Amino acid sequence: MRIVTIIFTVLISIASVFADESDYTANIGKTPPMGWNSWNKFHRGISADIIREIADGAAKYKLNEAGYKYLVIDDAWQASGLGPNEELVADPNKFPDGIAPLVKYVRDRGFELGIYACPNKLTCAGFPGSLGHEKLHAKQFGDWGCMFLKYDFCPTRSGEIGLAYDEVVRRFRAMGDALHDQDPRIVYAICEKGHAGKINRRTRKHAGITTPVTLEERLKAFSWCADVGGVMWRTTGDISANWDRIMSIVDEQEGLACLSGPGAFNDPDMLEVGNGNLTEAENRAHFTLWCMLSAPLILGNDLREIPKDVLEIITNEELIALDQDLMCKQAKKVLDQGDIEYFVKPLADGDFAVCVLNRSGQSQDVVIDWSKLGLDKDAYTVRDPWARKDLGVVKKQLLCTIGSHDVFVVRLGEAK
Ligand code: GLA
Repeated sequence: MRIVTIIFTVLISIASVFADESDYTANIGKTPPMGWNSWNKFHRGISADIIREIADGAAKYKLNEAGYKYLVIDDAWQASGLGPNEELVADPNKFPDGIAPLVKYVRDRGFELGIYACPNKLTCAGFPGSLGHEKLHAKQFGDWGCMFLKYDFCPTRSGEIGLAYDEVVRRFRAMGDALHDQDPRIVYAICEKGHAGKINRRTRKHAGITTPVTLEERLKAFSWCADVGGVMWRTTGDISANWDRIMSIVDEQEGLACLSGPGAFNDPDMLEVGNGNLTEAENRAHFTLWCMLSAPLILGNDLREIPKDVLEIITNEELIALDQDLMCKQAKKVLDQGDIEYFVKPLADGDFAVCVLNRSGQSQDVVIDWSKLGLDKDAYTVRDPWARKDLGVVKKQLLCTIGSHDVFVVRLGEAK
């Protein structure tokens, strides 16, 4: 009997060694990664000083306690050319001491540093890419102590628009393998935006394709991302701090829920909450929808001074709990009434999150009918996570008024 147990144990350990080898994402980013990225607010205007101030702000507002972890330096941190051994070099004016001291600075404040690179000759902002130098550059990132890499495909700059699907996947796999060998805990954030699958607007135009993108094409376009080690992958072109753009990105997520799950997430792009002229309602709706989608929550605002209303939105622990739910289910749109749309997200404890979105320019009275959302119980306990209020047991229908460009969210539990 003992021998049988020992053989069984040995077999299990061998199996888990192999599982570890083949499954890149076994232990990282099980729930959607959370952090901040420099691009949306600062674009090319970044420097070591700014990153330090951002880390100070993130610590001052205790964003790590809310779950935010990675502070990511986006494009334009590099010098204009590679170094003598083809290594990446930080711009000596913007980052005079290089990247490694920033890793320590950020870590001392409770965060991890992330960085940006590109599988082309040039990055989107025209700095040197990592094509052909994946191992060397991954080693640099690992040696510096970076724990997150955004790897951004930029065909336009490098004259590579229309590159074959297999070649694009090969390039992302090369960096995925290199990072995995370097340190499997590094979060690999793929930013390919549907070029290989020819669903990207620019690539499609270049290829002369005029038909609308089908769901099958969209699924194929991102089907390889988890397989090459991606913990998250951009499903759209760039976001901007504009309501219509945020809405079009939400539309683009439809049908993609089946690709997403623990350790592997569709990424509708970084948050614009607190940027531009978005109203408080728009900020709240944008944040809520990203939480419903189990999207990575990568802030894009200026963390040095955060207005109270913005801070309350990005640190609402009940909303963040929906995003970080262990089942990692991306919400599906279950009912579309034109300007009013209903999303449902099943949660690990058996609850459901329901979000009603008002896309119109006026406030709207809405009846939320459980049966029309595919919910099979007659009555649920209802909690409003924005108001932080229990609404008691509600039978069949809930009436609410939703302001323009706003959402109404409820967490539904079993009524005993
Ligand atoms: C692309 C990406 C953006 C940002 C810029 C940087 O446009 O999609 O998120 O990283 O490049 O140049």
